[in-house]
Amino acid sequence: MSQTELDKVARKILTDNDQGGYTVPTKGLYPYQWNWDSVFVARGFATFDTDRAWREIELLFEGQWRDGMVPHILFRKDDPSYFPGPSVWGTDGGPIPSSGHSQPPVAATIVRDLLELDASDAALDRAKLLFPKILQWHRWFMAYRDPDNLGVIAVIHPWESGRDNLPDWDDALRDVEIKDVAPYERKDTSHVDPAMRPHKEDYDRYLSIVAACRKVAWDPEKVARTCPFFVADPGITFILLRACRDLLALADRLGETAAQPEIEGWISRMETGAARLWNAELKAHVAMNLRTGKQTDGVSSASFLAPYAGLTDPEVLKPLQEHFDRISAKIRYLMPSYDPEHQAYEHLRYWRGPVWAMVNFMIARGFAEAGDPGRSDRLRRDTAALIQTGGFAEYFSPETAEAAGGGSFSWTAAIWLAWARPSQADQAA
Ligand code: DGY
Repeated sequence: MSQTELDKVARKILTDNDQGGYTVPTKGLYPYQWNWDSVFVARGFATFDTDRAWREIELLFEGQWRDGMVPHILFRKDDPSYFPGPSVWGTDGGPIPSSGHSQPPVAATIVRDLLELDASDAALDRAKLLFPKILQWHRWFMAYRDPDNLGVIAVIHPWESGRDNLPDWDDALRDVEIKDVAPYERKDTSHVDPAMRPHKEDYDRYLSIVAACRKVAWDPEKVARTCPFFVADPGITFILLRACRDLLALADRLGETAAQPEIEGWISRMETGAARLWNAELKAHVAMNLRTGKQTDGVSSASFLAPYAGLTDPEVLKPLQEHFDRISAKIRYLMPSYDPEHQAYEHLRYWRGPVWAMVNFMIARGFAEAGDPGRSDRLRRDTAALIQTGGFAEYFSPETAEAAGGGSFSWTAAIWLAWARPSQADQAA
């Protein structure tokens, strides 16, 4: 397919998945509004419909909880094709039925991008309305996902990380007792090949965590103290650190100076805290189970987000570049979600190996900003090649470019439009 045809298909995926102001990740498998999906989707819409881009984020924040949390799924209407739906979550924290935890906070970064693309008065007004909501969401993360001021952000559920069955969660998940789970029928494996999805035992534990948090009525303080899963995640830590820098810039732009000292405090707390996730043997940032203090032992695609978070000291950047080159010598398409030399790696199973376009977008941005345009562009070219070969899939095999998971996927289409598509200059060359 030519680039123009791919552009057309990508736009059509976004408009077909549009439910009237918010976009589902893909029909069937994910029939609701997902948090970080929507924000990346907004970045895609921004390439051809600015109003629609803002609307996507505004609708996401309509679901913000009273305590500041922005849920990972908004169940705007009941859909029996998805499990676990609203009745399993049993939440009551906000105006729209929702799941009970959050997802990586990319909104501040993308709102800043939207303003870069269009700084009209109307856009500034929309950003002004979103600013206090994003601020409150970040404050919620700092209070309830870093309750001991460690400067690292925990997830209370693998789903909160957005990287559901990552090998980093395996140990901590094994410590979660399977209990209070009523008999259930998964729906995901009726939409896609079970070999590309998490195992049944993972699901039993996912639901046990939901049951445990439900028991404390999703009270964020109690969840932080008692949740059987509480793992510091380099992914969410780096995405939030980056988002705080963008929020600080937005505060400046919007004249919200009163908020700046608080945001600056968060930034320096995470800049210092990130060192706790540095695995000195591996020379990369990894996850850490905050209930046991144990670090994980594999390089994941989130390890490569350190430059995106602004951590560009040579002691961090150089080993990362070496990991990058080692991995690129091993497999054809970057960046696999887990190290292909680790025993837990599986090239087609969701977050245990496959490549995700929006992760590449973030990693590439960090490398470019750290003065490494070569590796940044390699990521863009690989992402374009994966889409040209496999189509707009949810994720791809880093070995064969095989399309995996759901098809006609919104964020893959969005990332194509916003970043991965070869530029005019490339085509001329
Ligand atoms: C799912 O249903 O697999 C989602 O990733 C949970 O957010």
